[in-house]
Amino acid sequence: MSNQEPGTGISIDVRNATKRYEKSVAVDDVSLSIKPGEFITLLGPSGSGKTTTLNLIAGFTDLSSGSIEIDGRRVDNVPAHKRGLGVVFQHYALFPHMNVAENIAFPLRQRKIPKEAQARMIGEILETVGLAGYQDRYPKELSGGQQQRVAFARAMVFDPMALLMDEPLGALDKNLREKLQLEIKRIHQEVGRTFVFVTHDQEEALILSDRIAIFNNGRIEQVGTSSDLYERPESLFVARFMGESTVFKSAVSSNGTDWSMDFHGTTIHGAASGGTPSSGALVLRPEQMRVAESESEVPLGSTMVPVKIIQNIYLGSGHKYELLLPDGTTGIVRTPRERGTSLRPGDNAWVHWNAEHGVLLNDHDLVSTT
Ligand SMILES: Nc1ncnc2c1ncn2[C@@H]1O[C@H](COP(=O)(O)OP(=O)(O)OP(=O)(O)O)[C@@H](O)[C@H]1O
Ligand SMILES: [Mg+2]
Repeated sequence: MSNQEPGTGISIDVRNATKRYEKSVAVDDVSLSIKPGEFITLLGPSGSGKTTTLNLIAGFTDLSSGSIEIDGRRVDNVPAHKRGLGVVFQHYALFPHMNVAENIAFPLRQRKIPKEAQARMIGEILETVGLAGYQDRYPKELSGGQQQRVAFARAMVFDPMALLMDEPLGALDKNLREKLQLEIKRIHQEVGRTFVFVTHDQEEALILSDRIAIFNNGRIEQVGTSSDLYERPESLFVARFMGESTVFKSAVSSNGTDWSMDFHGTTIHGAASGGTPSSGALVLRPEQMRVAESESEVPLGSTMVPVKIIQNIYLGSGHKYELLLPDGTTGIVRTPRERGTSLRPGDNAWVHWNAEHGVLLNDHDLVSTT
């Protein structure tokens, strides 16, 4: 079935893709189904395999094993320029000796589009990226942000059914980056094509994406919406990579309905769901906990752990606490302004939460070893 109507995108299916180099495995058995019109972001630390995965989809890198399907058609042996994808690279490269119009015309000439149609398409795409009237400028006469917009325009001018972008905003300062993030989001909504975006910036991924795939060490740890990843992380790596967290680690015992762990003399418990790990890591988000100055302030039935205050920062909208836990690790709590305390660095206090909060994960190493 073809999805190629205007205003939609194409599906991209990566199946068990592996890319092996002589000394390393860059992408290790990655599977990912991208839906038509979806904005999906590949997020992960440096060297985790994001660019390699994008290059496998684009056709710039050959698979060692596995397959890639675009719109239901296997493309492993289809050369890059015949996959119908627009690409913006990690280090954007405009042709310095060509002006803006000539740069953008490049993919149109490759596709043998007639001259008059080219002029119209270039005018339209420059309008979309907010650079109407810049046809005759040369790259060196443009700011970084303007050059990046030209790179977008060049990737999108032939209206590809999917646009692949590898850290397109990486070289820009914060303000410009935020401005272009919103523009990319608007353009995605306007053109409705499939967008595959690579970044190592968690906040950027949250702003832009329908779904995020978290990469770690050549593998995908988890794919989901931002709320899936924040509220239901499936591994400690994801919990730590997506937002702030406090982690309580200890041996876990379970009776089938409840689990409990002894954490340095206090008992932490929760409801068991599915398989309970024997060595657990309970992950709590900063807004799921509160800080109390004395034990008597802790609501009855709450789980509580003694802590030492490292910092109590007033942020206007609320308070942020940095805490020293009994095992020597640190925790973070954020409370609304009216729930703040006058606790100071060095003070003893209690961190507490309702037992239904938190996600109990298996406490294995953050980075898998191969
Ligand atoms: N051509 C190559 N030859 C050998 N190893 C490579 C090659 N390209 C990538 N690698 C290795 O594969 C791994 C994944 O690289 P990749 O470029 O996909 O990472 P990335 O997630 O895009 O990182 P970054 O955020 O730094 O861009 C790295 O360890 C890298 O050194
Ligand atoms: Mg990269």
